[in-house]
Amino acid sequence: MDIGLKGKNVVVTGAAGAIGREICAGFVSNGANVIGADIADLSETSEYIRSLGKASQWSTSKIDIGSAESVQEECRKIQDRHSEIHALVNNAAIYASLKWTPMEQLDLKEWDLVMNINVRGLYLMIRELLPALKAAKGKVINFTSDAALRGGPFMLHYVSYKGAVIGMTRALSTELGAYGITVNAVAPGLIDTPSSQSLGENYQELLGSVVQSQAIHEPMQSRDMVGTVLYLASSWSDAVTGQLCPVDRGLVKY
Ligand SMILES: NC(=O)c1ccc[n+]([C@@H]2O[C@H](COP(=O)([O-])OP(=O)(O)OC[C@H]3O[C@@H](n4cnc5c(N)ncnc54)[C@H](O)[C@@H]3O)[C@@H](O)[C@H]2O)c1
Repeated sequence: MDIGLKGKNVVVTGAAGAIGREICAGFVSNGANVIGADIADLSETSEYIRSLGKASQWSTSKIDIGSAESVQEECRKIQDRHSEIHALVNNAAIYASLKWTPMEQLDLKEWDLVMNINVRGLYLMIRELLPALKAAKGKVINFTSDAALRGGPFMLHYVSYKGAVIGMTRALSTELGAYGITVNAVAPGLIDTPSSQSLGENYQELLGSVVQSQAIHEPMQSRDMVGTVLYLASSWSDAVTGQLCPVDRGLVKY
């Protein structure tokens, strides 16, 4: 089925991570040109894209979304090559290095880092790619989390940032609608990625209880995010903006 992404230019941040990698694969498999952006080494994702026979639709950007200079420089290079960006998927986040911590023990440096990279970084990506997003009447898809809707414990900085992403999505949808840009958020449930597995000793217990609370009792995998993200990046969602879409096998009823 052609979902109208052939030849579209898409930037995916956090492309070296588990979910980002599957999203990149989903886009190239549907004909889009993908710029995979990450601070981390992208060779595993590049190898995956090559294994799909889609290397000609793939390029990378070594970017640190925590640094305004890095975002400006890399987004300039991207726009030198592509005057139109049809979709920006803001998936990058500090997540893997966070450990469940009671709120009174949270390290303030880590708090600032989470806000700087995960909230400000997301804003910077949208700001610096705005000319190309305007030119394409593009689509922004921000990653938030079910945790911001359910209020999970012991990750207060992370959950607070995910709440901020929801506010940013709604505010930007009203501001950027004038340019025909849509801005939506996806909220994954608990996805069984290596980063999730490193959260703490009780991870398997948590996963079991989350899966039992889902309407569909199967663990979420990274590829489960792909369909919704591609839909929000395609013209099939032209009338959808400012929305929050849980993708969690029915964990949260929103
Ligand atoms: N896995 C889950 O259960 C889950 C649940 C809800 C939401 N999410 C969200 O989904 C997204 C992806 O999660 P994941 O499980 O694939 O995590 P992950 O850790 O595998 O991927 C995150 C990626 O972001 C990149 N990144 C971190 N800091 C960066 C920076 N300063 N500049 C550029 N890139 C940077 C990392 O290098 C990594 O490749 C995140 O936004 C996460 O919060 C995940």
